[in-house]
Amino acid sequence: MCGIIGIVGRAPVQARLIDSLKRLEYRGYDSAGVAGLVGGRIERRRAAGKIRALEDVLAASPLEATVGVGHTRWATHGAPSERNAHPHRAGRVTLVHNGIIENFAELKAALAAEGRVFESDTDTEVIAHLFDSELATGLAPLAAFKATLDRLTGAYALAALIEGEDGLILGARRGSPLVVGYGDGEMFLGSDALAVGPFTNRICYLEEGDYVAIRAGEAQIFDAGQRLANRPVRLVSAAAALVEKGEYRHFMEKEIHEQPDACQHTLSAYIDPVSGLATAPNGLDLAAFDRIQIVACGTASYAGAIARYQFERLAGLPCDVETASEFRYREPALSSKTLAIAVSQSGETADTLAALRWCKAADLTTAALVNVHESTMAREADVLLPTHAGPEIGVASTKAFTSQLAALTALAVAAAAARGRIDAAEAARLSGLLREVPRLIAQSTRVEAEMRALAPELAKARDVLYLGRGEMFPLALEGALKLKEISYIHAEGYAAGELKHGPIALIDAATPVIVIAPSGPLFEKTMSNMSEVAARGGPIILITDAAGAALAPAGAKVIIGPTCDPLLAPLVYAPPIQLLAYYVAVQKGADVDQPRNLAKSVTVE
Ligand code: F6R
Repeated sequence: MCGIIGIVGRAPVQARLIDSLKRLEYRGYDSAGVAGLVGGRIERRRAAGKIRALEDVLAASPLEATVGVGHTRWATHGAPSERNAHPHRAGRVTLVHNGIIENFAELKAALAAEGRVFESDTDTEVIAHLFDSELATGLAPLAAFKATLDRLTGAYALAALIEGEDGLILGARRGSPLVVGYGDGEMFLGSDALAVGPFTNRICYLEEGDYVAIRAGEAQIFDAGQRLANRPVRLVSAAAALVEKGEYRHFMEKEIHEQPDACQHTLSAYIDPVSGLATAPNGLDLAAFDRIQIVACGTASYAGAIARYQFERLAGLPCDVETASEFRYREPALSSKTLAIAVSQSGETADTLAALRWCKAADLTTAALVNVHESTMAREADVLLPTHAGPEIGVASTKAFTSQLAALTALAVAAAAARGRIDAAEAARLSGLLREVPRLIAQSTRVEAEMRALAPELAKARDVLYLGRGEMFPLALEGALKLKEISYIHAEGYAAGELKHGPIALIDAATPVIVIAPSGPLFEKTMSNMSEVAARGGPIILITDAAGAALAPAGAKVIIGPTCDPLLAPLVYAPPIQLLAYYVAVQKGADVDQPRNLAKSVTVE
């Protein structure tokens, strides 16, 4: 996913374009560029790599524009390089793009046949040529823009400048979000609210198929049918202020420590303030369903996998969890009384969105459990199930994950009560447990110094295994994902009992095994698996509570977290594994917040 900013300003825009791109860098960071209208002509500056590299280019050659666009890229078509960096231009048109144009090869061939020459490998340059060729037929800018959009198949958010059209930026949205920001005599376009956050808190979200012309002090929005559209302007919270690192070295570290607040805010939407009982928000009637289907990707899918245990055990509600990229391409057999829940931080992940749409088309009730409440999933689902983690900037998900877990755990308790599986006293007891989550999570981050101390040794490993049983198994998968994505150490999560069916062959003195096992009904079984590892010389790090620590095998390094009810254990034991991955990545000198090859949200298939 790439980041987009466009500004029709009253004063020079270079510094603001850069400020915004830095806030958007979490969306993609392999190259960046800006362009602006200077005396009727468009000038462009681009650089491969991080925004820092673009700043160096601008220091040598400033952009003296008051109208401009900027882009930070996550490569899809074409390698990360200056040549493929946005903005792309053709003739009078210079534009930036987020998304993928599926029919770009066919369009490119047709344009090449007309004699047009391409300087990059991107699909975006094709849009610029197409738009320029429509302008060349004599069409007015808006008509030429619409004619261009009509020829594109795929997903896009666009911001375009036209030479000879000072004071104008055109934008469009299909498949990728785009917001319009209303300033004081100035206008903005951004790929999300954070892009325009430093400049205004008055924004409007374009709808699918909308396109827009922004000029000083005004925005004309048209729907896909070319009718003038009136989209509501909303006041957004001071999101921009929240996205500073403050006293922390990395956003990931800050976000790990924000988890008590993130979970507290999230749970406030799932606990009735009067009765104190867990409840589903927004009128969702959990008694109306005989099955739950969770679709999600990556970390969000592990939150779903943990929730499956809770929905089935507490509420007796059959629950399937599937990776959205697989779900969307098979033909799942689902009963009409299935509640489909898409779990997503961004609410924009392409595969999760497609799975949600599939469920909608199959006439299922759909819910979006998302952190971005204006996202496409939030708007398309029947019911919004919000998490309130605040903006998550670190590419590795932390506070969004625990917020998802908090919301899903509360929903499982609410479902158990709604379905009559638990009595009022038990509902009150379980709801009371939920209120302990913020305190317990704060307590579990206190293992930070111990995790930091483990990092130098762990950072030397080539492979690391994570083991867990029950709800701790998906948490082991999440632990392995965290470590591999930010430290580039190969890591795998396994169900502890599955070890002897193959993976045990990997155990040797150089392969650390991290066991996540707070005491509880499954602890003894996991102990046996630990003994199997110990007998083969595998170094063990056991993350457990005080009761578990007392039974730890000799030689294991033991990290002691808080004692809590098993219902809360996945939430409470998430921060320790996040901290471990974080300190190993720091030890290795890796780029924690922007790991190689990744982007915060994947809006392509
Ligand atoms: C890993 C991570 C990813 C995301 C996944 C889904 O730390 O962040 O695995 O969880 O890309 O993203 P969302 O939740 O935005 O749908």
